[in-house]
Amino acid sequence: MSFKLNEKIKFPKWPIYDENEIKYLTDVIKSGKWWCGFPGMHEGEHVWSFQEEFAKFQEASHCIAVFNGTVAIESALMALDIGLGDEVIVSDYTFVASASAVVATNAVPIFCDIDRETLVMDVNKIENLITKNTKAIIAVHLAGNPVEMDALMEIANKFNLHVIEDCAHAHGSRYKGKRVGNWGDAGTFSFQASKVLTGGEGGAVICKSKDLADKIYSYSDCGRIINGYGYKHDTYGTNYRMSEYQAAVLRAQLQKFPTQHELRNKNANYLTKQLNQIDGIKVMKPTPGTTELGWYIYPIVFEPEKFNGLTKSQFYKKLKYAGIPTDDNYPPLHNLDCFKNIKLRKGINYSNSNWGGTKSDNNNFPVVSDIYDNSVEFPHEVLLANKDELDNIVKFIKSMKETN
Ligand SMILES: Cc1ncc(COP(=O)(O)O)c(C=O)c1O
Repeated sequence: MSFKLNEKIKFPKWPIYDENEIKYLTDVIKSGKWWCGFPGMHEGEHVWSFQEEFAKFQEASHCIAVFNGTVAIESALMALDIGLGDEVIVSDYTFVASASAVVATNAVPIFCDIDRETLVMDVNKIENLITKNTKAIIAVHLAGNPVEMDALMEIANKFNLHVIEDCAHAHGSRYKGKRVGNWGDAGTFSFQASKVLTGGEGGAVICKSKDLADKIYSYSDCGRIINGYGYKHDTYGTNYRMSEYQAAVLRAQLQKFPTQHELRNKNANYLTKQLNQIDGIKVMKPTPGTTELGWYIYPIVFEPEKFNGLTKSQFYKKLKYAGIPTDDNYPPLHNLDCFKNIKLRKGINYSNSNWGGTKSDNNNFPVVSDIYDNSVEFPHEVLLANKDELDNIVKFIKSMKETN
């Protein structure tokens, strides 16, 4: 195999910033207003402005900024009154946070297998998982690819279930013309360092209902009421407020987002056309009905027998050796130690879940287990590269078929 490609391949580093981020951050420091305060007593203005700007971008009625994407999910669940004795259906193929946020509320996550082509929750498998205890579904738009939201909402309405969209990967994605996060009761976002919109850490919840927005706000700001007295704590709440530093950086990043988003889309389309011509490679398929895709990661599935029996770890090793940035894909949740060996909350009954011990057997989650074993993924900065770099990836993957 030719490793000459090594010297040629140069990918952009992430995050990308300029004087604007530095100016916004410095302004916060110089202002002396290092926290956002609360409604009725604003201190810094960046958090409040970011909430408005992000709501506008995501075409949402309300946005509540919090300090990460995990607590964004937890805040939405708590505001929807999900808790002890409740079950929440979650995709099995996601970062642990989509399920650990459920565990944090004392509810029980139930894992749903994925669709082989789109890699997101297979909506046809949801009904079988519904029991008398099911209260909500968390739809994870993995890699920015939307879950089939119209079909999912039909099921949710039929069984009277709440829906939270975990949009941690899906800033800017649209399904059937509507931005993700606006289909269900609430949409949650992460702005952690690897995300396409980042403040290092950060999160947000968007929603349509003013009543729900007020509850989410209250839970994430110590049980305060919008415009109420700061030491009046109406309900149980905690402190998940976003900091002014995070919001300052996020406001500068949001200005850069549309250009980067457009380039990622153009490059993803180009790369997909090239890679789909390689026998033995299949790129994640946008869910039918997708009208815009956020492309947080770029997953590909390979057939080992078409690559001389190459294993996934060998595939990754070769890409890394060639200097192509890669991203480890998520181990399916049913197989994580915390679920398989049930190392979770004290006093909660997990015995009716569809995971733990032998229930975590891969045969019970056949699609995700197969996909996990035979797929690799690239981080989104690969999609910010130029055409020559993308061509090099294609050439390199083709060359992997010839040698082992
Ligand atoms: C699908 C998904 N949901 C939730 C989260 C949690 O976000 P955070 O890391 O900001 O807490 C992540 C983070 O990577 C994620 O990938």
